[in-house]
Amino acid sequence: MTGSVIHCGWMFPQLTSFVPGRLCTSYAAIARPNCHSFGRRKSYLLTTNCFSDVAAVTIASDHNYGNKQVISITPRVYDYLLTNVREPSVTSSWFFRILRELREETATMHGSQMQVSPDQAQLLAMLVQILGAKRCIEVGVYTGYSSLAVALVLPDSGILVACERDKNSLEVAKRYYDRAGVPHKVDVRHGLAVDTLNSMIENGEGCSYDFAFVDAEKRMYHDYFELLLKLVRAGGVIVIDNVLWHGKVADPLVNDKKTESIRSFNRALLDDERVSISMVPVGDGMTICRKR
Ligand SMILES: C[S@@+](CC[C@H](N)C(=O)[O-])C[C@H]1O[C@@H](n2cnc3c(N)ncnc32)[C@H](O)[C@@H]1O
Repeated sequence: MTGSVIHCGWMFPQLTSFVPGRLCTSYAAIARPNCHSFGRRKSYLLTTNCFSDVAAVTIASDHNYGNKQVISITPRVYDYLLTNVREPSVTSSWFFRILRELREETATMHGSQMQVSPDQAQLLAMLVQILGAKRCIEVGVYTGYSSLAVALVLPDSGILVACERDKNSLEVAKRYYDRAGVPHKVDVRHGLAVDTLNSMIENGEGCSYDFAFVDAEKRMYHDYFELLLKLVRAGGVIVIDNVLWHGKVADPLVNDKKTESIRSFNRALLDDERVSISMVPVGDGMTICRKR
C-alpha cells in the first residue's frame, strides 16, 4: 500500500514530508481528528514502511514478487523507530514513564533481552484497543513489560490472566501493576502455563477471551496455540512472539530443537484454516492470528 492512505482522518506531518521524492509511507487508520492520546484515545493510527534509508532496503530475490522493496531494521532505522514510540520519552506523561521505568529496571536484570521491545508492546496495546478487548491472556510474563502495556489500555472492568512460572520475575511485575494502579486488571497465575490454560478450560472459560499473547517456552507453541484456540472467541486475536527467532528459522544450517519447533509451528499455521494470519517482522517477529 505504498504511498496510500486508508480510512485516514489525520496523519503525522513529519512522516508525510519525510525524504522528499522517496515517499514510501503507508497508513492504515481508523481515525478521528484531535483524539489520539495513547491512554484514552478512540482513534488509532498504524504506520508502516515509514523509512527511506537506502542501505536498509532489501529487494526480494524472487522476481515473482515484483521487485518489492522491503525495509531492513538496521541499528540506525531501529533508533529512529524507537524515537517514534511514545514510551521512552523523559518528558512524557506518567502513563508512559511507568513503562520506561520498568524497562530500565528490567535492563539491570538477568534475562532482560527476553522483554518485548517498546515498539512491539505499543503494537500489542493498540491491537487490544482496536479489538475493544476486555478479557486477555498472556503466556510468559517475565517482569511484566508487555502485560503492563496491555493492562494500561484495558478498560477498568477488563482482565488480563498473566501466566508465569518464575516467582522472582513475577514479584517485579506485581510491583509495577501496583504502581501503575492496574492490579485489579491483572490476574497473576504462578505455575506452568499449560496447567493454567487447561484449568481455565475445565473451569468453563472456553471462547470467553478476546486476546492472547504467547511469549514463553518455544517448544510448547503448538500446545499453547491449541489451548488458546479453545479459550479465545471467534473473531478474537492470538499473537505469537519470536516467530522469526533471531532469523534462525530462515537459515537452513540451523537445526536446533527450538528453531525446528518454531519452523514447524510456522508451517502448521500457514495451513491452519481456523485462523487468518499475518506474520509481522516487529521485535523478533510475531504472528497475529485472528480466530475465524
Ligand atoms: C520471553 S519472556 C516473556 C517476556 C514478557 N512478555 C515481557 O515482555 O517482558 C518468557 C517468560 O516465560 C516464562 N516461561 C517459560 N516457560 C514457561 C511455562 N512453561 N509456563 C509459564 N511461564 C513460562 C519464563 O519464565 C519467562 O519469564
